[in-house]
Amino acid sequence: MPATRIVLLSRNLDMSFLSPEFVAADPEVEVLVGVDAPGATDADVAVCWNPLPGDLSRLPRLRLIQSIAAGVDHILADPGLPTHATVCRVIDPGMAAGMSAYVLWAVIHQQRHFDRYLVSAAQREWREQPIRSPRNHRVGIAGFGWLGSGCARALQAVGYDVRGWSRTAARTVPPGIATFHGQAQREAFLAGCDTLVCMLPLTDDTRGFIGTPVLQALPQGAHLVHVGRGGHLVEADLLAALDSGRLASATLDTFAEEPLPRAHPFWTHPKIIVTPHIASRTDRSQIVRQTLDNLATVRQGRVPSAAIDPNRGY
Ligand code: GLV
Repeated sequence: MPATRIVLLSRNLDMSFLSPEFVAADPEVEVLVGVDAPGATDADVAVCWNPLPGDLSRLPRLRLIQSIAAGVDHILADPGLPTHATVCRVIDPGMAAGMSAYVLWAVIHQQRHFDRYLVSAAQREWREQPIRSPRNHRVGIAGFGWLGSGCARALQAVGYDVRGWSRTAARTVPPGIATFHGQAQREAFLAGCDTLVCMLPLTDDTRGFIGTPVLQALPQGAHLVHVGRGGHLVEADLLAALDSGRLASATLDTFAEEPLPRAHPFWTHPKIIVTPHIASRTDRSQIVRQTLDNLATVRQGRVPSAAIDPNRGY
């Protein structure tokens, strides 16, 4: 029996690329794919992306359930989630940098009208669009955790007027960034978002966040950048807000159904940019290192700093 047995669980991603990386990091590790692999019931760790509900409850010896990403909603969605194992996410500075790059691109693309320049260039037309200084454009980040505050600093570095909103008061706030928290301050936050960036974790409280009440609370002609989860988005409400002109544009990276079905109206909507859930990626060496470190911490009877609170949902 190996010192550590890891099982890779996903219903839609082939994670076998992680097997050699785990073994290279620790030759005492054995990596299995799927709950039906012989020996899987002795697994100490499940490394997951969208595990099939019910699979985790078939692993009685689990100590650690490790997400390969920042989000853990895909794990907590399992009603049979074992309570005896610690659930951890990945906290990767490289992922935060990738996310900041995506959000910067999306904000700048819309605020500086690069969509129109692409059209002009295709027609060989030299046409200048109105140029508004970033300091006169307010970007609000809903979900002000470590990823959100990283994006806030990146936006601030190029001159945007940045604000953040979170469930509870943010612990560390970069200077010059206004922060809001809780339902009581939600409207005041939204009223100052020329672009709203959704980076919330998906929980029972945040499901359907991007719906008519939030969209109506934004300034007329605001932009949306959505890098949260498909479950945050009320698709019909978004389409209505774009079609009425209330919202100027939406850049969407995550969807209720992924891959987004080919017949979905988002693909062809003139005010929507679809990207295929690529805003950021975790470095695979970080997944491996953090999984092994988290397991070692759990085996010492301590709680890893990347552990999430299943009751809170993140
Ligand atoms: C990606 O979607 C993540 O959760 O990091």
